[in-house]
Amino acid sequence: MASQIPIVRTVSALRHHVALWRRDGYKVGLVPTMGALHKGHLSLVDEISQKADKIIVSIFVNPTQFGKNDDLDVYPRREKSDCEKLAKTSANLVFVPPVAEMYPKGHVTSVTLSGISEILEGAERPGHFDGVATIVSKLLMQSQPDVAIFGEKDYQQLAVIRQFVRDLDIPVEILGGGLVREADGLAYSSRNAYLNEKERIIAGNFNRILKALCTAVEKGNCPPRAAEASATQALLEAGFLSVDYVSIVHPQTLLPLSDMKDGGQVVAVARLGGVRLLDNMKINPPESGS
Ligand code: PAF
Repeated sequence: MASQIPIVRTVSALRHHVALWRRDGYKVGLVPTMGALHKGHLSLVDEISQKADKIIVSIFVNPTQFGKNDDLDVYPRREKSDCEKLAKTSANLVFVPPVAEMYPKGHVTSVTLSGISEILEGAERPGHFDGVATIVSKLLMQSQPDVAIFGEKDYQQLAVIRQFVRDLDIPVEILGGGLVREADGLAYSSRNAYLNEKERIIAGNFNRILKALCTAVEKGNCPPRAAEASATQALLEAGFLSVDYVSIVHPQTLLPLSDMKDGGQVVAVARLGGVRLLDNMKINPPESGS
């Protein structure tokens, strides 16, 4: 029988474990998640184990980062199978707080960023990053880890987290965990489970189309705005319902780039059925250096 992993549901129990680890001189790592764990999450546990002796995985479907038309009510909740998966990793503790533990009656504080949290995903999902920044600040304060890791698949989320951690002088090292893809290149996401068979096949084109965009820009003869437009067209022709954005941006500020001499990042969101799929990819400087 597989061994079990300890689960705590209160901040005080979490702090008790962390205090014992600190007393024994261990370095603590945090992997925040919303559960429905897949290979992408498990790779975060693996990556952080290079930097931490004791690893906490939090599972909390955070209501404040969902908009009123979002999928909060139907978001997959799979605590039992998540904990079974984590028991086979190097994780040491699972923190699964109920909503009332994280947002008790009378909770009125939120963490808000301007600029980087208002563009792209922030423009499509107003308030989303306030919810993310608030819950991640709380998780960092509650567990006080030395290091925390977030997937690069949510590229803008990672940039937002790095920004408020810097602004608020939160003493933690933030790591970006490499994007993990399925065999056809689709980035792992808990929301992929919403796709039907036909949509799942179409979804495999996302990665191919972004790769083609990167190649075109890296060859040096396709300006960013033209590359964005032709990738958008290609996504629609492949069967995506709509495209929220395909944007070639500066890797840190996420502002639109025109000059590609230092390379950049393409970030994109396309819809299939009711699902918003996110992806991103690094664009190297053009071969000619032009
Ligand atoms: O990426 C996620 O799963 C969530 O946005 C996070 C970082 C766990 C905050 O709820």
